Amino acid sequence: MSGLDGRVALVTGGSRGVGRAIALRLAADGAAVAVNYRRDDAAARAAVTAIEAAGGRAAAYQAAIGDDQAVAAMTEAVRAGLGEVDIVVSNAGTASRGRTVADTEPDEYLRLMTVHALGPLALIRSLLPAMRARPRADIVMVSSAITGHAPPNSAPYTMAKAALEAAARTLAREERPHGIRVNIVAPGLVATDMGERLVRAVDGRALHDLDEHFPFGRVCLPDDVAGVVAFLVSADSGYVTGQRLVVDGGGPDLGIV
Ligand SMILES: NC(=O)c1ccc[n+]([C@@H]2O[C@H](COP(=O)([O-])OP(=O)(O)OC[C@H]3O[C@@H](n4cnc5c(N)ncnc54)[C@H](OP(=O)(O)O)[C@@H]3O)[C@@H](O)[C@H]2O)c1
Repeated sequence: MSGLDGRVALVTGGSRGVGRAIALRLAADGAAVAVNYRRDDAAARAAVTAIEAAGGRAAAYQAAIGDDQAVAAMTEAVRAGLGEVDIVVSNAGTASRGRTVADTEPDEYLRLMTVHALGPLALIRSLLPAMRARPRADIVMVSSAITGHAPPNSAPYTMAKAALEAAARTLAREERPHGIRVNIVAPGLVATDMGERLVRAVDGRALHDLDEHFPFGRVCLPDDVAGVVAFLVSADSGYVTGQRLVVDGGGPDLGIV
């Protein structure tokens, strides 16, 4: 028996990077995992295969977070395929273009707000009625340590993550009477495709070339984040809600994510 036996987790952006590590970890802990993705079918299939090879249960579900109709269809498909969702990890996300406020068009704010804040809230809204009926349910929002730094050239991304965090803290208080825990995990720079691209754009080097400049002599790995998410949805954190756990080795990091 593992800690999450009998529970169903939906991990958005679970096909690559941080979300993949979270999906694999929650499955290893016993949950049946819905691996959501946007367009990379092969990566989603590979994540499901890795979970199954380790003895877990998972299925892949395509839907772009931010396309509320597609998301509603996906939640129905997950319900039919795996059962009622009682763990949601809102992880899917994309970087902004890295321009200053002076050079950013309104569309870019809307694009980032849709993926990081409005889309996740529409997903959660569609799942809440069923989650309230579960003995326990958990929502974990993957945000970013960036909301504490607000570095230059980051406004659309930082604003969208800050909006998500504000909603999460509100939701935590609203849903406490229904047994739903809502917490935020805020990584610093993580070794993923996104992290790699950001470092190349800002610094020109490969991410692991910078290991010595990071806390503990290495950049944060997706598994570092997955372990914190696993704790937050476990029985060990039943009295924890409305919290923001920063996973950045104690900072400071390069201040770019
Ligand atoms: N990497 C970092 O340094 C870092 C630091 C702090 C916070 N974060 C946050 O951590 C989360 C994961 O980032 P990552 O580094 O793992 O990114 P990544 O390596 O680029 O992977 C992104 C994942 O999200 C999916 N995705 C993107 N947009 C989507 C959408 N609209 N709907 C559904 N799925 C979508 C992708 O699926 P497809 O491949 O199918 O598009 C992929 O599975 C993000 O919220 C990011 O903001 C990352």
